Amino acid sequence: MENFHELVPRMAREFPFELDTFQKEAVYHLEQGDSVFVAAHTSAGKTVVAEYAIAMAQRNMTKAIYTSPIKALSNQKFRDFKQIYDDVGILTGDVQINPEASCLIMTTEILRSMLYRGADVIRDVEFVIFDEVHYVNDQDRGVVWEEVIIMLPEHVKFILLSATVPNTFEFANWVGRTKQKNIYVISTPKRPVPLEHSLWVKGRPYKIVGAEKKFLLDGYNAAADALAPKVPKGRDDAVNSRGGKDSARGGARGGSRGGSANGRGGNSNNPRGGFRGGRSGGNYNSNRSGNAPSKQTFMEMINYLKKNNLLPVTIFVFSKKKCEQYAHYLNSLDFCTASDKNKIRVFIDKAVARLRKEDRDLPQIIQVREWLSRGIAVHHGGLLPIVKEVIEILFAESLIKVLFATETFAMGLNLPTRTVIFSGCRKHDGRSFRDLLPGEYTQMAGRAGRRGLDTTGTVYIMSDGTEPPTRTSLELMLLGNPTKLQSQFRLTYNMILNLLRVEALKVEDMIKRSFSENSAQLLLPEHQKSVQINETLLAGMVRKSCDSCDPDIDETHDNIVKYQKLVSEELEIAFKSSAGRKSLSPGRVIIFQETSCPRDIAITINSDLKTRTFKVLVLSNYSHKTKKRSSDNTPYLPFIESYAKNNLPPFKLKNEFKIKTISFDCVEMVTKHIMDRALIQGIIGRDPDIIKAGITWINDIAQKKMVSARLDKIKEVGFLQAHEEKLNTMEKLRDSKSARSKSFLAAYKEVHEEYLIKCKIESLKSMISDQNLELLPDYEQRIEVLQELNYVDPNLNVLLKGRVACEVNAGFELILTELILENFLGDYEPEEIVALLSCFVFDNGSDEPEFVTPRLDSGKARILGIVNRLNGIFNSHQILQTQEEIEFADRKRFGLMEVVYEWAKGLPFKSVIGLTDIQEGVVVRVITRLDEICREVKNAARIIGDTTLHDKMDEAQTKIKRDIVFCASLYL
Ligand SMILES: Nc1ncnc2c1ncn2[C@@H]1O[C@H](COP(=O)(O)OP(=O)(O)OP(=O)(O)O)[C@@H](O)[C@H]1O
Ligand SMILES: [Mg+2]
Repeated sequence: MENFHELVPRMAREFPFELDTFQKEAVYHLEQGDSVFVAAHTSAGKTVVAEYAIAMAQRNMTKAIYTSPIKALSNQKFRDFKQIYDDVGILTGDVQINPEASCLIMTTEILRSMLYRGADVIRDVEFVIFDEVHYVNDQDRGVVWEEVIIMLPEHVKFILLSATVPNTFEFANWVGRTKQKNIYVISTPKRPVPLEHSLWVKGRPYKIVGAEKKFLLDGYNAAADALAPKVPKGRDDAVNSRGGKDSARGGARGGSRGGSANGRGGNSNNPRGGFRGGRSGGNYNSNRSGNAPSKQTFMEMINYLKKNNLLPVTIFVFSKKKCEQYAHYLNSLDFCTASDKNKIRVFIDKAVARLRKEDRDLPQIIQVREWLSRGIAVHHGGLLPIVKEVIEILFAESLIKVLFATETFAMGLNLPTRTVIFSGCRKHDGRSFRDLLPGEYTQMAGRAGRRGLDTTGTVYIMSDGTEPPTRTSLELMLLGNPTKLQSQFRLTYNMILNLLRVEALKVEDMIKRSFSENSAQLLLPEHQKSVQINETLLAGMVRKSCDSCDPDIDETHDNIVKYQKLVSEELEIAFKSSAGRKSLSPGRVIIFQETSCPRDIAITINSDLKTRTFKVLVLSNYSHKTKKRSSDNTPYLPFIESYAKNNLPPFKLKNEFKIKTISFDCVEMVTKHIMDRALIQGIIGRDPDIIKAGITWINDIAQKKMVSARLDKIKEVGFLQAHEEKLNTMEKLRDSKSARSKSFLAAYKEVHEEYLIKCKIESLKSMISDQNLELLPDYEQRIEVLQELNYVDPNLNVLLKGRVACEVNAGFELILTELILENFLGDYEPEEIVALLSCFVFDNGSDEPEFVTPRLDSGKARILGIVNRLNGIFNSHQILQTQEEIEFADRKRFGLMEVVYEWAKGLPFKSVIGLTDIQEGVVVRVITRLDEICREVKNAARIIGDTTLHDKMDEAQTKIKRDIVFCASLYL
């Protein structure tokens, strides 16, 4: 982009730095009126593109919407954008500031409900920015991104920002297709500040990947040597046999240990010897989260970083508890000058001044304050939102030197650091412990190296214990491909009801336009072309006339097709039943024809259900090179005598048996003939006399008229029906005039060709039709549920209950709707209602209080009753539920009922958190989300005209919205 300044002479906004190439490309395309998809690594400067679009919207007097998946990120962007632009607003679940502004920041969920509501704002929107759009991969929320992208009107331009992903083009292509416009893909693999990755082992780093992005085996081996326990000479030779391949290492050592007389754990040099001995190939630390580094390791490392001028550092830890435990390890360290201390104190004082007096010395605040005064901090989901923000802001000002953070710190917040440390590289993903994925590692490591301040970013992976992570897992994590963008599209009742209600888009269209249907839909134009070609072909076909065939050739053809279908149906059922398989082998004479060979006769030896094959004896020697006779293409109808005489020549048999495996699908007839077992065994055992007898036997049969077996041992109803119908069809065919004609084959060929083309057209058409959409059955089942529960009528008009469910966007829409309409909430006080509703926003409590109040307990039982009733209905319609829905009752969702109840009754925060082990930050988040649920229930109450409930919800909101829980964000 050398001529950038000529191409874009007057930029909508100037930046204090020269733009990078990828930024210039994006700006150029935006100025051309295009949509863009920018995929670049962490801290590359993607926000510049967003900022440019906002500046363009201001210049054009239009609007720009910025969406992000995380509230903290939205808040931070609100603060940043406000410093640049005059007119900025923000709409999240709990704040609404300046909603008329020309630059609007919101969560993707809010944008979604605006679209369903048909909000006026959308008309003036020129740009929608999706920051961190790789969130589309999120199992729970990803579908919202797809919905929004599909529903945005066509005049809107897209700015999609994402971490580097391998399938940028596929994704851009999908967005482009749904919107009928091109999306320009701009990506940059280059990092302006390169990263160096090392293993931290025994007090020093060992570089394993440098700026050239190559795995450094020497560094890895040296680290492994440093870790390996010293073994007395002669005790364990395998230690020296390491060739740099982890499998060779782990395997050899494991083998020698496991086999030693000492057995498990018997080697005093290695307390974990037995454990290691049990494994081969060595998947490092297959135990829970791996070895937690010790206090000493941390002290050594932090001192090293300080000495080598590598602070500030962010240390990623995969549990809230461990974040705090490690921070405590550094109790003796202080990184702050007196002036730093002063700045920090003043800042915290100002921030906590927003709180009520008694909340200012909550234990968490006292602890964090103490850490901060020495330049240390933690950042995780258990922190009070205000505490988290204090830490983010102090970190941005470089007043924090050592930060222990969980993974969310790596997402989007612009907070780079000189050094990033991984305290381990395994995490629990809700199901099990696993290695970090390449994309996750890159996102976190990418925080290292500040533009303009550092020449390289330093990344260490702490490795304690006796062996480092395997080379394979490190290479995969550090250099592997990040996760592809993948559709998580699924139907929700709320989506279906909203679409039925607004009627702007059919549910089938929503499914069709989803990212998951993209590849199938891409083929549609081709299929359509194919249909046309085949239809032209069909129209051009002319039949020769034939007096003897014309009267019933079509009917005969239909019957032949039917007969053949019934034969395979019979065989399919016979093959699946054990009685059937018994009567099919050994010794059963069958007629078969493989695609590339002439028709043949065979004797079965055995059958294999798994591979759907028969092993058979044949007296032919056909290969795919054997020429077919024209009669081989005729249908096999030996039961019509004149037809058989004209069209079915005798089999060509040789004088030698061969064993062959044939697919069960090529069998044309199972005859009534069975060869004696003794004969078969003799033939297989190569007894010359028996072979001779066998050849005579089969030749004799091959001369006879073939009659199909009755297989009367099979009693399945389906089989009997098919058999009956087959006999009827055979009867009709025997009466056919054309089948007896000499010119039958020529006439049959013409009709059959037409038939094949018609079949092809039909199958293409079904692929094009909605019937082929993968989610269609799911849609139909959900509609059945909605009809059974009276949310929609038989004509799919949305009824009252359906309208209520449309208001519930936070999930569990049917449970909540039933709850509201069962009309028992009205019997409760506002404090009780919020306590009960907390089950919709909290899960996985470690403890559920046994007993709170009798009224609350009976409320809980009623909610669980509704859940059970609905589950019964879902199951009867075979609805696929999400994990969260399935586990509703098991997740201890009522674990915060008491806390919420007491909070709503006015107990101070300090006392409320004393009632539970759940961390302060989690409690606050639950109550904030509860406020959203209250708003939804309130709207629902208005729809059904229940003023009592409406007023109670209003009161409940006032009761929970107080003090520290609703203290305004520092960013706002
Ligand atoms: N061309 C540039 N020259 C110098 N600094 C830049 C340039 N572009 C952006 N920056 C700075 O780089 C920093 C990181 O930018 P930004 O937050 O936009 O990264 P990002 O790509 O959004 O990363 P993330 O994946 O973390 O969201 C910002 O402080 C920004 O001012
Ligand atoms: Mg960003």
